[in-house]
Amino acid sequence: FKAFQERFINAFRNIPDFPKPGIQFKDLTTVLKDKAVFAETVDVLTEMYKDKNINKIVGIESRGFIFGAALAYKLDAGLILVRKPGKLPAETIKEEYELEYGTDALEIHVDGIEKGDRVLIHDDLLATGGTAEATCKLIERLGGEIAGVCFLTELGFLNGRAKLSKYDVKALATF
Ligand code: PRP
Ligand code: MG
Repeated sequence: FKAFQERFINAFRNIPDFPKPGIQFKDLTTVLKDKAVFAETVDVLTEMYKDKNINKIVGIESRGFIFGAALAYKLDAGLILVRKPGKLPAETIKEEYELEYGTDALEIHVDGIEKGDRVLIHDDLLATGGTAEATCKLIERLGGEIAGVCFLTELGFLNGRAKLSKYDVKALATF
């Protein structure tokens, strides 16, 4: 795993001062471009969850859709999209969450999750945890059981895990 982790971390491109001065942005596009790292990342996540009886993957808009889709295929699960307000066409429920300034919200189709579904949530990044926490609430309101929450990376210093302490949270690397 250590050797994979090194290849994985090195595949992110560091962009200084993006989107604001002082922020070191970790660009995922260079991970996606590297076919070997991309495939290995999907395989590592698949190994982690293959024996957990997962039947739904929930991908969080927008960067959570990419590996979410690959994981759904590999784990033989359905893919459910959690999206920003107004994007999903059928009946939805909504959860608001706090941003640095103000609030945002996420929606899910009410028929996306059924009672007893074993759900793996995926997003690219765990920062403050607000996005993932809102997603957990949406799934639980629909009767889904959260089997895990997985991220490609986490910003450890923001302690987003505190908001997700009820769940099994995994990240492939910490920045
Ligand atoms: C980023 C990132 C996570 C979220 C993490 O998404 O992709 O989804 O922020 O932040 P949090 O843990 O503090 O809630 P963003 O909202 O920028 O949208 P995008 O994925 O569509 O680019
Ligand atoms: Mg996102």
